[in-house]
Amino acid sequence: MAFPHALVVSASPHASEAGAQLMRAGGNAFDAAACTGFVLAVTWPEAGNLGGGGLMVARKSAGEVVTLDFREIAPATSYADMFLDAKGEVVLDLSLRSALASGVPGSVEGLLRLWADHGSGKISRRKLLAPAIRLAQDGFPLSAEIAESINKRRDRFAVDPGASKIFVRADGRPWREGDLLVQPDLARTLRRIAAKGRDGFYRGPVAHAIASQQSNTGGLITLDDLATYESKYRPPIRGDFRGYEIISMGPPSSGGILLIEMLNMLDTFPLEGLCPGTPAYIHLLTEIQRRAYADRAEHMADSDFHPVPVDTLISRDYARRRASDIHLDRATPSAKIRAGETPPEPQHTTHYSVVDSEGNAVALTTTLNASFGSGIVIDGAGFLMNNQMDDFSIKPGAPNLYGVTGGKANAIEPRKRMLSSMTPTLAVRDGRTALLLGSPGGSTIVTTVLQVFLNVALHGMNIQDAVAAPRHHSQWTPDEIFIEPDAFSEETLADLRGLGHAINDKPSKIGAANCIAIEAQGLHGASDPRRQSSAKGF
Ligand code: DON
Repeated sequence: MAFPHALVVSASPHASEAGAQLMRAGGNAFDAAACTGFVLAVTWPEAGNLGGGGLMVARKSAGEVVTLDFREIAPATSYADMFLDAKGEVVLDLSLRSALASGVPGSVEGLLRLWADHGSGKISRRKLLAPAIRLAQDGFPLSAEIAESINKRRDRFAVDPGASKIFVRADGRPWREGDLLVQPDLARTLRRIAAKGRDGFYRGPVAHAIASQQSNTGGLITLDDLATYESKYRPPIRGDFRGYEIISMGPPSSGGILLIEMLNMLDTFPLEGLCPGTPAYIHLLTEIQRRAYADRAEHMADSDFHPVPVDTLISRDYARRRASDIHLDRATPSAKIRAGETPPEPQHTTHYSVVDSEGNAVALTTTLNASFGSGIVIDGAGFLMNNQMDDFSIKPGAPNLYGVTGGKANAIEPRKRMLSSMTPTLAVRDGRTALLLGSPGGSTIVTTVLQVFLNVALHGMNIQDAVAAPRHHSQWTPDEIFIEPDAFSEETLADLRGLGHAINDKPSKIGAANCIAIEAQGLHGASDPRRQSSAKGF
């Protein structure tokens, strides 16, 4: 179905509907993106959030690009080996399930900033937050998917006083589809934000609740960390591929750089006749992915702290050199791959896409890191805290939750942002925004965005087929190709093994890409069949 005017595609029907309604009422895509973000904090609790962070890439109808980083930062008293024991070993789960796992949240500041700086000016803060407040106060009916997702984590929620109040039913029975999830404490926090703006969260009672719970439970986030948090506009990462201009997110995300680096490497090969899902195609993509991810581990981090050689990494010259040792008839073992030489240079997540009737386009990915973040709720304030500190390299070479490794560049430092894979991306054709892309999935985000884009740009699929097509992923370490269950035939897998690849078919589905294609006939939303997804427009 094509929508002629405006469209929101997100993980939650309530969130997509609220964003679309705001655009009907005269708001633009930025107003709708902020509104959708606040509703996701209520109705998509595993990843929508007030206690996390995110990244936005947007392009206005006249072509201006806006790239906002509202990633969490490490508290001021954090330090490089804070997740290691006296012997220098990683303490199990400390960076994932403790008060120390949380970075200083950025979402509230980011969503309010994109509304204040780029909104239509017609939507008041109260109106912006009204749908989220109503859904938190009155409750919303759980989908089967969310009910199951909460039930699966019952034991984890039960040990946290704030989380058990929200997610563990008083009558002890599991959640069922259609049960109302009511969140009065979260409604109160949202009302404070509606009344006082960023100060409703980063100062006053909510900030005090965060800081005192942190200090009582071994966390490091202080009132000063909260009061001084700022989102930042960042230069976008740009590249081009077969008639499309790609605009994506730069540091502290690795996403944009990896995406352009991989497309540039791919472009050094004759691609005509290569079909998705065939051994030759999966092999080639795997080879470029493992080289790019080796660069991620060595070179990428928050560019305010570490000189990321962006210009080199996204240059065609570099891609040519980097791809020159790819063999089309055999795998290169990851152990034989090191990060490329770069000369010194100056210095469960959710994605949604919004387009308004003027042609403004917003691609926004936001996250608590793992599903439901650290599992710890700020008691009385009603929201989950992130476990984003795990995205730092907590020990050189130690894999994070997604199995990716890093070194010194991405070590913990006070007030630094942890390296991300989030890849909100726009593709522009003939001067007009054509595609809005993005996905959750940790380290698989970038390869998901890559495959969806190639399915459209190279293989001529429509956006829905491009999103639905089976995916594979590799990331240098471990030296394997992850494939979705039942995605490829036994013959294909045998051929890949014959080329020297190890296949890992254990992981479940890869990504959940809520994308939009803007075409002459209207706006086409692609709901990823892998997860709950909802397109609402008019
Ligand atoms: O920023 C990142 O790269 C991760 N924290 C994203 C986490 C994620 O995608 C979880 N979703 N499945």
